[in-house]
Amino acid sequence: MIRLKKPWIGRFKKSTDKLVEKFTASINFDCRLYYHDIKVSIAHAKMLEIVGLLTSKESKLIINGLKEIEKDINNEKIKWFIKLEDVHMNLEVNLIKKIGNIGKKIHTGRSRNDQISTDIRLYLREEIDKIKLKITTLRKRLIKLAISESDTIMPGFTHLQIAQPVTFGHHLLAWHEMISRDHSRILECRKRINILPLGSAALAGTTYPINRNLIKELLGFDNITENSLDAVSDRDFAIEFTSFSSILLMHLSRMCEELILWTSLPFDFIELPDFLCTGSSIMPQKKNPDIPELIRGKTGRIYGNLLNLLVLMKSQPLAYNKDNQEDKEPLFDTTETVKNCIDNFIKIITNLKIKPKKMYLSALCNYSTATDFADYLVKRGVPFRDAHSIVGKVVYYGIKNKKNFNEIYLDNLRNFYNKIDEELLEVLTLEGSINTRNHIGATAPSQVRSAALRAKKYLKKLLG
Ligand code: ARG
Repeated sequence: MIRLKKPWIGRFKKSTDKLVEKFTASINFDCRLYYHDIKVSIAHAKMLEIVGLLTSKESKLIINGLKEIEKDINNEKIKWFIKLEDVHMNLEVNLIKKIGNIGKKIHTGRSRNDQISTDIRLYLREEIDKIKLKITTLRKRLIKLAISESDTIMPGFTHLQIAQPVTFGHHLLAWHEMISRDHSRILECRKRINILPLGSAALAGTTYPINRNLIKELLGFDNITENSLDAVSDRDFAIEFTSFSSILLMHLSRMCEELILWTSLPFDFIELPDFLCTGSSIMPQKKNPDIPELIRGKTGRIYGNLLNLLVLMKSQPLAYNKDNQEDKEPLFDTTETVKNCIDNFIKIITNLKIKPKKMYLSALCNYSTATDFADYLVKRGVPFRDAHSIVGKVVYYGIKNKKNFNEIYLDNLRNFYNKIDEELLEVLTLEGSINTRNHIGATAPSQVRSAALRAKKYLKKLLG
């Protein structure tokens, strides 16, 4: 039988109210950090031995005990107790049960305050490394698709009105740019997360001759925190991670919104395979893009988590406050949601059926080469503002007479400007339009291909 004694029992005459016990406990969710907590305790025990605070026999006993507990947890042999409040106290009591009184020495020179901050940082570092890999895969898929779709013409939109023709590859590279900035954001965020708070103890440091640098090395942190008060109370690294997540999800939601529009019949630019869609329980004909809709929906949840953490930290005096226990659930939810959303988005992007003909026909609408027409006039000496007005009149004439540019005869066009020649016909084609937007950052197929190759190169460099 395990003795469920609270460590602060000496100071208290009465045991904790059951309602309060339940309210203050975090074990139901922070038990998830057992692996990280054990890792931190093992490093701490090694350090205590090296600085002479534990004998090597004691530290061996503690470390082996912790390793056995880890196995027990993996084999579901450990029961978590609300009475023991959190993962730290549950593990400590289990250690004492397993190895006896020596287990009582593990908490020398540390506090749950620096312990939990270290645990979360370790946890987030691991999650970030998984997310980084997923982002890399997503970037590779987008670049690959952009290359194969570098010639595919589609309408480009502003205000969701057909504006100018673009290449689908160019559109995909726009998505890639968003994700590449998210990629650099998470790499920056990781740097600030990978700093060791352990050794700060409760708030002021400890009287023991600890070696923080040693723990830093053992746990693979890049640096140690500079101020113990800040180290135990700071959660801005978690806010930064959730902020990165919010921006990433914002980007994914924009892409998803486009995918949803494109699968709808009025657009009909793409089709999603059956195995990635769902049907309707009442309307037999329906095939719904649930994945992109859900990613769009889950974005709100991540923003909620960000706001949650921001408000949680607002106005908190130094140093640790129990409020901080509330950081875990939004954080866990954020890491899970982000991983799921990227995985599902990758699935979608890898299995798109693209309908280039539909895209092309749509790009032909709404006088999408009107700007090219105006540019043609400018190149023949007409000031741009006058050129804009002349083309505006042609467009108005076309709308009135239900004629597209290519359905208006040259003679007729010359009524709007008398020096128009045959060359205009090529200028007004979709191909003419995209091919002449031929500079870095523009939509011409050759530019898209070189931009994609550059993106590939940068990504490779980033991955080292
Ligand atoms: N469960 C606590 C948390 O998640 C651990 C730190 C508790 N510290 C304390 N002084 N009560 O923040």
